[in-house]
Amino acid sequence: MGAKLFIISNRLPVKAVRTALGVEFVRSEGGLATGLSSLSLPVERHWIGWPGIHPGNEDEKARMTVYLENMNFHPVYLTPRQIQDYYEGYSNSTLWPLCHYFFSYIRYENQHWDAYREVNRLFGEAAAQLIGPDDIVWVQDYHLMLLPALLRRSHPDVSVGYFHHIPFPSYELFRVLPEREQILRGLLGADLIGFHTPTYMQHFTNSVSRVLDIEFGLDETQLTDRVVHTDAYPMGINYALYHDAPLKPTVRRHIRALRNTFGANRLMLSVDRLDYSKGILHRLRGFTLFLETHPEYREKVSLVMIIVPSRDKVERYASLKARIDEAIGAVNGAYSTMNWHPVYYFYHSFRFEELTAMYHIADAALITPLRDGMNLVAKEYVAAKRDTPGTLILSEMAGASLELKDAVIVNPNDPEQIAEAIFTALEMPREEQLQRLRSMQSVVSVQTVHKWASDFVQELEHIHRKNGRLHEKILRTESLSDIRERYRKAAHRLLVFDYDGTLVPFRRHPQDAKPTPALVELLRRYTEIPSNRVVISSGRDPATLEGWFGFLPLGLAAEHGAFYKEEGRWHENVPAQVWDPEILSLLRKITDKTPGSFLETKRTALVWHYRNVDPELALLREEQLITLLSEPCARCGLRIMPGNKIVEVKSAVYSKGSEIQRLLAESRYDFMLALGDDVTDEDMFRALPPEAVTVKIGALSKTARYNLPRQAETLPFLKELLAVKE
Ligand code: UDP
Ligand code: G6P
Repeated sequence: MGAKLFIISNRLPVKAVRTALGVEFVRSEGGLATGLSSLSLPVERHWIGWPGIHPGNEDEKARMTVYLENMNFHPVYLTPRQIQDYYEGYSNSTLWPLCHYFFSYIRYENQHWDAYREVNRLFGEAAAQLIGPDDIVWVQDYHLMLLPALLRRSHPDVSVGYFHHIPFPSYELFRVLPEREQILRGLLGADLIGFHTPTYMQHFTNSVSRVLDIEFGLDETQLTDRVVHTDAYPMGINYALYHDAPLKPTVRRHIRALRNTFGANRLMLSVDRLDYSKGILHRLRGFTLFLETHPEYREKVSLVMIIVPSRDKVERYASLKARIDEAIGAVNGAYSTMNWHPVYYFYHSFRFEELTAMYHIADAALITPLRDGMNLVAKEYVAAKRDTPGTLILSEMAGASLELKDAVIVNPNDPEQIAEAIFTALEMPREEQLQRLRSMQSVVSVQTVHKWASDFVQELEHIHRKNGRLHEKILRTESLSDIRERYRKAAHRLLVFDYDGTLVPFRRHPQDAKPTPALVELLRRYTEIPSNRVVISSGRDPATLEGWFGFLPLGLAAEHGAFYKEEGRWHENVPAQVWDPEILSLLRKITDKTPGSFLETKRTALVWHYRNVDPELALLREEQLITLLSEPCARCGLRIMPGNKIVEVKSAVYSKGSEIQRLLAESRYDFMLALGDDVTDEDMFRALPPEAVTVKIGALSKTARYNLPRQAETLPFLKELLAVKE
């Protein structure tokens, strides 16, 4: 049987409602459910989620389950307390206002977080019963941010994606969350993490770097055992469905009925879930200001406001509802005439046919959220207009504004801009309206929900395969016994070890990373075997290496191959550098400007260390330093090498690779082993022949054949190779 796709979201695409006739199922609200429900992918699709109500008894629960399972919808039942604390609490009173920049709306209770963890675990358990090793799991949205890591733990090899449908706030806001670390670690369980816009994605990668001290390249980070990729995938709509809707007889009937009702009255339309992030009160203020400043449009324009009830048990939503009712009452009270109402207000949801008929006839859509992850209504309006004129007024704070450039873009916080945009829309020549719509339709018809989903799933599969290949590099028992066998049989062995991060862990200060007695003892044993040639190849200076290892019969290579010790004597490949004054002065200036950093001056290299510097500052200074150094270093023939929390300036002639070449030129070996953790060690891996056993410690490497995820595993590995009994 082929792989299955499991979509996991808080809500199933249908929700149960209790009516006089018993439990009925209706379409769930919101962009996630409407967008994903019309998805077609060439795999068997399953959905895991909450069915929307708590069943009254076991019979009702059984009936609901049978109904849902028939459609491959697998319900996760939640208790009223879980709904209160996890859904209304942590998800919608903590994470939602946080991600939408409503700082003062954030509520925080410890029991909400406990319930959030508990429910994420429940979803994980439900998924664990269903998913197989080849399946694809796609977790949706902020309710389930801990789930990717839970799934990774229960199913280490399964393909897990996560999509965040709402904005991801900037680090400065995200950091206020007490559980910021757990939340980010939860997400990093995924192979691929998607956002609607590059800005949300950058906020996320920045938060990971700052909170977890894990460096994200542009769009990828290397963890110890796999990579995590992130990208922006703007979600779209089922374009054909909305574009062709006005051709359907039922929709045409609604269009005719609406035209009869509203006659020559021009219509502005707004459609939102009840939510403070949607800017409904600001919009009403803008519309009222428009009527005040453009009296010529009174009795000629109405605003049709469709507000879909949502989260009404959450305090902020309930009080918003009261304020909206009041504001609409005020504007209608002030301006209505016997034949005309400024605002038509509907507080319920509409069926697809009615909604698309409204889109089709509306002269303008007024979509002005204060923050919105994407906003699909804007795209649906553009599609449903077909070739009839209309104008989209869109907030610059909606994710959709990045794609819908031909909308009239407004800052929703400014009622004057909203009023002015309404006037612009109403006055816009028909040809310009059509031309702008055509241009937006060409975008929306390509970036459909199908493309969004298939782009995401394809990339997820790609990253998953890549992780599979990387995973094979991790040294496990089988490859270890094979290496041991080869080691045992060999008659002339070359064993090259990097020092910091490989034989010993990093310390806050380099001078503290001294070799332990256990390490010295192990190295001694290796050197006692006559067929072994053991070399420590390090970036450290010769004096330090001599002080720590001079008494052992080891080869030593210092400052990345600039010096080497053989048969008890040190040799010099490059004379000690006379440093260019500009280079020295640049390094000193950056060091002075960066608290916690320091400059190490070796005979052939200058090293700027920033291990103890605030990560954001370190990133800035590192980039500044590399830019500043590039010209003088090129002039002096020096190489700039970013390393593990260091930037090193050194001769371009010698490297750990050239040291390997020297060792290879001197003798023939039938077993070669190299261990290293840093970018400078990649030179060493590259210089060795393919049969060599190259082992990267820590994050995965493209060049090394094997990987040991943690430094703490190095010594046990070396003991194992030597068959040392503890
Ligand atoms: N919608 C609906 N019936 C209504 C009003 C809205 O089905 O009466 C749908 C609308 O078609 C859209 C979704 O609700 O697909 C709203 O999604 P959007 O991304 O705009 O906002 P969200 O609710 O996700 O914040
Ligand atoms: C937004 C969220 C969705 C959510 C929807 C409806 O679109 O991103 O995850 O399902 O709103 O909200 P509700 O609380 O009713 O599920």
